[in-house]
Amino acid sequence: MENFVYRNPVKVLFGRGQIAGIGAEIPAGAKILLTYGGGSIKTNGVYDQVRAALAGRPVAEFGGIEPNPRYETLMRAVELVRAEGIGFLLSAGGGSVLDGTKFISAAAHFEGDPWDILAQHAPVRRAVPLGAVMTLPATGSEMNFFAVITRWETREKLAFGHPAVYPKFSVLDPETTFTLPARQVANGVVDAFVHVLEQYLTYPADAPLQDRMAEAILLTLIEEGPRTLAQPADYDARANLMWAATMALNGLIAAGVPQDWSTHMIGHEITALHGLDHAQTLAVVLPATMLARQEGKREKLLQFGERVWGLREGSPEARIQAAVDRTRAFFESLGVPTRLSGYGVSADTIPLIAERLEKRGMTALGERQDVTPAQVREILALCV
Ligand code: NZQ
Ligand code: ZN
Repeated sequence: MENFVYRNPVKVLFGRGQIAGIGAEIPAGAKILLTYGGGSIKTNGVYDQVRAALAGRPVAEFGGIEPNPRYETLMRAVELVRAEGIGFLLSAGGGSVLDGTKFISAAAHFEGDPWDILAQHAPVRRAVPLGAVMTLPATGSEMNFFAVITRWETREKLAFGHPAVYPKFSVLDPETTFTLPARQVANGVVDAFVHVLEQYLTYPADAPLQDRMAEAILLTLIEEGPRTLAQPADYDARANLMWAATMALNGLIAAGVPQDWSTHMIGHEITALHGLDHAQTLAVVLPATMLARQEGKREKLLQFGERVWGLREGSPEARIQAAVDRTRAFFESLGVPTRLSGYGVSADTIPLIAERLEKRGMTALGERQDVTPAQVREILALCV
């Protein structure tokens, strides 16, 4: 096992009715900015619950944060935070609203051009404290310090992370997810599944506890994802899915083990250029990554096949192929296509994506830093 430092300060308020408790989590007297997206919180009761919990408190609002939140929009909120002296940010919505709120938090007191936080990894020295009501199990943003932001003007989708933007608290009330369209439920299952694999499907680090925790999350997603889609009113299915998605990216299974993240980096370029949902890009790139990089990932692929899909028969090559096929079939069964053609994207995009990653200096991705632009092209050729 590798050395690690682990600290996760997010207070999780999980379960029915927990939104009612947020008032006690926000410092008294702080001017609050409630951030949200395109309106889902207005139609599913989350907005009303938040306003009731904050009755009598000074609350300003900033709505209209898009899926794949846009820098241009978020900078308008940054101006509002500065002008109004906002002391606490409260995000209500999915990963996009929360990621956008993390960026607002980091940008509000940033000296210089806030785009540098994303493009130059400029250090964040001061952040506006934030909390979250998470209504979409997928990203794990509710219990981590990452955010992914899109600059619409240049079609760039970049990530940053800093402990200063950990939410102070996150409310996870599974009832808020009842209104999710099936597409977003399926996206969430795929995103969480791939988060686990980015931290698990690398090379053995003699970390059996992390491996088994990762496998437990995968098996939970395989069971609870389809259960949620088949029985949308099942509270427990929603609750299990929500907690699994949080556990998939809160740092716990990453402790002491190598990590990949190349599927995500390639996926972000596909979203930036072609507008696919985040999880849709992962469903396309992951199976291709598993095939193209099976040599370096051989032992973990075999372990994944055996422990997650029960594959014990046949040659190692046949079991690896079967593990990829089962994963692809799982995503497809959720209604998420796993080929670029399924989204009307042609092979013409391949050189451009490799070139864009290269321009950003992302020429040595993956757990062994051996995913070069040439390998990116090879992976993408298997995505068509
Ligand atoms: O905008 P509203 O009206 O709220 O509607 C949203 C949006 O249209 C809707 N929605 C959310 N909760 C709902 C709901 N509709 C009905 N009922 C509810 N309870 O769902 C749509 C998609 O929302 P979005 O927030 O975009 O989805 P998700 O949570 O999947 O977030 C995706 C973003 O997170 C980033 C992705 O790149 C993408 O930009 N990621 C963030 C990560 C992180 N912070 O750690 C890691 C991930 O790998 C990922 O990259
Ligand atoms: Zn993701």
